[in-house]
Amino acid sequence: MKIKYENLNQSVVLIDVRTPQEYAEGTIGEAVNVPLYLDDQRIVVGTAYKQESPEVAKRIAMKYVSERLPEIYDAILELEKEEKPLVLFCARGGMRSQSLYQLLKSLGHEVWVIEGGYKAYRHVVIEETIRLSEEKTFVVLHGNTGVGKTYILNALTNFGEPVIDIEGLAKHRGSMLGRVGLMPQPTQKTFEHLIYEALKNQAEKYVFVEAESKRLGRNTIPDCLLYAMKSGKHLWIEATLEQRSNILVHEYMAEESHKEAICEVLEMFRKHVGNESVETMRLDVLSGKGHETAKILMEQYYDPKYEFTSNQYAYDWKFKLDTPETTAKAIAEWIKKGMPKDTLLIEAFESDISDTKLMPAAKLIAMGETVVFPTETVYGLGANALSEDAVRKIYVAKGRPSDNPLIVHIADLESLIPLVSEISETAKKLMDAFWPGALTLIFPKSDQVSLTVTAGLSTVAIRMPNHPIAKRLIELSGCPIAAPSANLSGKPSPTDYQTVVDDMTGRVGAIICGSHAKIGLESTVLDISGEEPVVLRPGGVTLEAIREVVGKGRYDEALNRKLNDGEQPKSPGMKYTHYAPEAEVVLVTGNSERVIEKITALAKKAQESGKKVGIMTFDQHVEAFDPCFTILSLGTEGDLETNGARLFTTLREFDKHSVDVVYSEGVDSEGLGKAIMNRLIKAAGHYVIEV
Ligand code: TXA
Ligand code: MG
Repeated sequence: MKIKYENLNQSVVLIDVRTPQEYAEGTIGEAVNVPLYLDDQRIVVGTAYKQESPEVAKRIAMKYVSERLPEIYDAILELEKEEKPLVLFCARGGMRSQSLYQLLKSLGHEVWVIEGGYKAYRHVVIEETIRLSEEKTFVVLHGNTGVGKTYILNALTNFGEPVIDIEGLAKHRGSMLGRVGLMPQPTQKTFEHLIYEALKNQAEKYVFVEAESKRLGRNTIPDCLLYAMKSGKHLWIEATLEQRSNILVHEYMAEESHKEAICEVLEMFRKHVGNESVETMRLDVLSGKGHETAKILMEQYYDPKYEFTSNQYAYDWKFKLDTPETTAKAIAEWIKKGMPKDTLLIEAFESDISDTKLMPAAKLIAMGETVVFPTETVYGLGANALSEDAVRKIYVAKGRPSDNPLIVHIADLESLIPLVSEISETAKKLMDAFWPGALTLIFPKSDQVSLTVTAGLSTVAIRMPNHPIAKRLIELSGCPIAAPSANLSGKPSPTDYQTVVDDMTGRVGAIICGSHAKIGLESTVLDISGEEPVVLRPGGVTLEAIREVVGKGRYDEALNRKLNDGEQPKSPGMKYTHYAPEAEVVLVTGNSERVIEKITALAKKAQESGKKVGIMTFDQHVEAFDPCFTILSLGTEGDLETNGARLFTTLREFDKHSVDVVYSEGVDSEGLGKAIMNRLIKAAGHYVIEV
């Protein structure tokens, strides 16, 4: 009977009937080799096949097999004693496995054949390694030579954590002293099989590995796995020189018999550490100590060499080595907490912005990490706009669906050119008038901007913020920064750093804490692809101001109305109620006196039904409401700038008071009022009462 490798789900005896050499290059799992013919015989058969005919080749093969049959049969009888199903395979599930299968069947034995043979298995290995690599989060342990990563991984394994010891599979210690004390390495194919089997057997969504370079002696780590490791979580293990030399000595000097081998290896370091050091190390090793040797090699060779590689990563978390067990416990705890990032908090208020302060954040951006930074509109959650991996981290940090495109932030006009395929006259006029500032323009994108940034659109949104920190951060990072508002998906945009710290600690690489956002509402998003500029999202730059510059312009007709089922908005962000606090919001508009009356009536009713009530109003009206409600003011009525700047903070403030429902007054929909009403209407889920 034929069976697919994938469908083998019980314990079986695998029998590889190919030649010893084919078997040695790589086989399926723990298969035993029962060759039908031998290596040199295979060459003869192959040559006959090519140079004469398939018939001649078959005849020769038959002769070879018949000579070996008694031996083969004995081997099969021996294997049958294991009382498990016998499963045969050859190179492609063809002649060799089929003929032995027929023979054994005719002799009354029950056997199976793997469909497609070893080749089909290789196919499964390659495909599945790719799939599993994509599916799992790789938690990668980094640290200088001798911090005992292998011991920590062993401890993690003992705690039942999923671990793949890649060096162990390759039988190669990629670090100090190469392969001293280890066995010969597997073939590349076998190495790949081992990786696959190891991945397959891990039930968790994450898996621990040690940081490795691509090559481990004669083995090469598959690209898909390297990529998955690179885009996984990165942990740094910190240890003292003393701890490290103890570990190294324990590892390499354990057996008396290794001394000679180590001395031989030391010769390789002569050109790096000099004759004197090699002599010191030789005597140290021969006397059976080794600590001196470990220290010399770490300080003079390994640490400097590793520094470059270790500086390439933005580490998610750093652990100080205690014992391997306690360190492993701490790591397991970190996993349980959801693998938070060790968020760097940088205080940089406008009066005190130095490059020294911003540089660590800029470095994180350059390394592909996320950084929250202040802008004049709202705080942004940024990452290198030119790196897809980095941009993906934004979506993860926000918990935002990736069908919502991001705004790319630049600090100077030169940076615009490579990002877009065309700059229209209208665009030039608008940039001239409003950049740097709260205006986001939609351009046709260039090839440099990935579809991950634009969520599949052929256009890209670009803004040049007018904020000294945002501007300097972009300059120091050396790349455009893609950044949505720094709120968790579904919450109001953050306008102060405390909100960001509350929401984003553990989710981003750094938070730059600055002052309260001046405008407090997100930028105006303007589509300039058509005859007339269209405001897709009203914001800090008003339509009136835009008209003054280009003579025309209108609001998108889909603004401030609910989208119909399945309707695709021009600006995909418009389909989310971004601005809602936890509490239900009801907007009441109309003549002030009547609005106050209506809100008072609604508030009383809600309170009677057991709800905690909030009222969002203006300074002039605070007194008009019963102080038993939670009353918060957006500032002076008519002072739209203050009202706008306070809106999101005030909505969040109601959440802090745990109110269930907020009754809010509105503003006139003129100028900046349009943006304020747009956010209020969204916060209210389009539930507006006109009186
Ligand atoms: O003020 C702001 O704009 C802030 C700060 C950080 O710059 N950023 C911001 O980003 O509000 P975000 O991602 O929260 O909102 C971006 C809006 C979304 O409504 C999105 O749909 C729209 O811009 N958008 C982005 N790219 C677009 C495109 N190519 N076409 C149409 N709309 C786009
Ligand atoms: Mg947003």
